[in-house]
Amino acid sequence: MMLERYGHGGDLITAAETYGYAKAQFIDFSSNMNPWGSPSCVEKILTDTWQELVHYPDPAVRKLRQTISEFYHVPIECILVGNGAAELIDLTIRAIDPKVTALARPCFSEYEEAISKINRKIFDIYLNEEHQFELQESDIQYAANHCDLFFLGHPNNPTGRLISQSVLQLLLNTNQIVVLDEAFMDFVPEENQVSLMNQAYVNKNLFVIRSMTKFFAIPGIRLGFMIAHPEWIERVKSLQVQWSVNAMAQSIGTSVLQDYPFIEKTKNWLIQERLWFTHQLSNLGLKVYPSDTNYLLIQLPPFNDVKQLQEKLAQRGVLVRDASLFKGLNSAFCRIAIRLREQNERFISEIRQVLI
Ligand SMILES: Cc1ncc(COP(=O)(O)O)c(C=O)c1O
Repeated sequence: MMLERYGHGGDLITAAETYGYAKAQFIDFSSNMNPWGSPSCVEKILTDTWQELVHYPDPAVRKLRQTISEFYHVPIECILVGNGAAELIDLTIRAIDPKVTALARPCFSEYEEAISKINRKIFDIYLNEEHQFELQESDIQYAANHCDLFFLGHPNNPTGRLISQSVLQLLLNTNQIVVLDEAFMDFVPEENQVSLMNQAYVNKNLFVIRSMTKFFAIPGIRLGFMIAHPEWIERVKSLQVQWSVNAMAQSIGTSVLQDYPFIEKTKNWLIQERLWFTHQLSNLGLKVYPSDTNYLLIQLPPFNDVKQLQEKLAQRGVLVRDASLFKGLNSAFCRIAIRLREQNERFISEIRQVLI
């Protein structure tokens, strides 16, 4: 049974069915969640406010939009909250209705899903391993003649790489529409300098999509938002189902953004742990690509195959993402989340035993 049977990592139900452990017995490196878990306010909100479920949620998501506006210094009319970044990816594609969308392979599969649903075409840009999977200026110059939309991860998944400032500048000069999926941007230490959120509300050709589910470890509640020019926000919102962001998600989103100690703790942990984990993995003969965020794309040594590796690790209760399932990668590639030190140590000791 393929662990990614529904297209993504983190499917503990399939893992439990396949390997006979309880869900909680796995250490999950296959989905890129904050390993500190969710902030403590999440439990409190769920227990204290469940009575409010007798009411509909605020259809305009006013309080959370206000909080996002203050936190990120963006005007409230430029913010749309969604049922996860996943919903906003889908709605944005439908709102723009591009003829041809350029995707940088390998990338998150939901971009292609959304485009296929409206029967539109894709122009593939293949990121080059020799450039450590970093998007190049020449890629943009070439693709700009073949597409009317660029849909890019910033940082990209599964490569973990940001787009360089010069490539971003070039992108914005193409006059094509650019959508940046910044789902993992909150993990990036230089977030404030590199996010394009504060340009998206003035530039009609730029959209920025953010997720709140990874950094705050709340994927089960579904929460994301986007920043764009108010005219685009109106257009995207007109396609959204009424009340798509539930009341608990709205309250939780408002509270977690005020938990500064949690935010600090996460950012500090990642800087140190990424360095340590990269070093340990490299010592085992794995090629670790540079990452700007909380997961690592790794290349296995010769003769190792990611499907076999995934199987052997899962038998030991450790889940990884088979990155060969991303168009543009092959069976030498694996993606792993960066977790807490003790779990990362366990990972190192398990993978050491299964590598050929
Ligand atoms: C690059 C990327 N964008 C968006 C999403 C969707 O995030 P959300 O949980 O907010 O829908 C994911 C989830 O894995 C992702 O990897």
